[in-house]
Amino acid sequence: MRLIILEDASVVADWAAQFVLQRITQFAPGPGRHFVLGLPTGGTPLGMYRKLVQFHKEGRLSFKYVTTFNMDEYVGLPREHPESYHYYMWNEFFKHVDIDPNNAHVLDGNAPDLAAECRRFEDLIQQAGGVHLFIGGIGPDGHIAFNEPGSSLVSRTRVKTLAYDTLDANKRFFGNDMSKVPRQALTVGVGTVMDAKEVMILITGVHKALALAKAVEEGVNHMWTVSAFQQHPQALFICDEDATLELRVKTVKYFKALSEEHQKMIADRPVDEQRLVH
Ligand code: F6R
Repeated sequence: MRLIILEDASVVADWAAQFVLQRITQFAPGPGRHFVLGLPTGGTPLGMYRKLVQFHKEGRLSFKYVTTFNMDEYVGLPREHPESYHYYMWNEFFKHVDIDPNNAHVLDGNAPDLAAECRRFEDLIQQAGGVHLFIGGIGPDGHIAFNEPGSSLVSRTRVKTLAYDTLDANKRFFGNDMSKVPRQALTVGVGTVMDAKEVMILITGVHKALALAKAVEEGVNHMWTVSAFQQHPQALFICDEDATLELRVKTVKYFKALSEEHQKMIADRPVDEQRLVH
């Protein structure tokens, strides 16, 4: 696990987008050879999506041979509801790039058989050959996707009843009316994300500082589900300075020194690549 500490949320967004650009470009996708990307919704990745759209418009990045799997979706919210994750993904990202909508998978929270829908999603990931890069965000309580505190760390895609904290955090999107927030969601499991070859988790803001400290400095704990990624062989936590406020000084120093060493090693590379290789 690597922690990369950047100045602020906009630098995190740029760094994450550059990383995706680099990974897709390196992979050189083509017919019958898709790059498989796991994607989150929420406020944190919006800047990254905007940058990816910009790369696409500049002709630097195509999603023609990219397959995506989203982390989660509310149960019972119509697709066209402005707070559904279908709506978010289409409006913030998919409609601005050249992805084939058939390759952009978002769980169907209105499926007649929700358990079957979750199994279908896991099967689709398998058929795609697994996820190359799963991008995630976390809540202040350390949830990743809708894997609330107490979720199994080997969980798979399933129906999840949302924790009070999540309903409370999300009510701002539903006119601050708690009764309008869906009570259940479909979500990939911690195990589903752990299976990805590489995981990149974006964490910004002081309100995520405790979760980052639990994720990085304490043991793996199902009450802070993001802590499971300490055990992933290729996990990157990308955070801003504000999110480090609960970390020990020595932790911050250690990871900053690692990044500096790394910068020295790659100083002779082209500028575009310099912040990317790790
Ligand atoms: C979204 C997701 C969640 C969010 C988390 C943080 O698909 O799976 O884990 O990433 O709730 O949300 P924001 O970025 O809005 O703070």
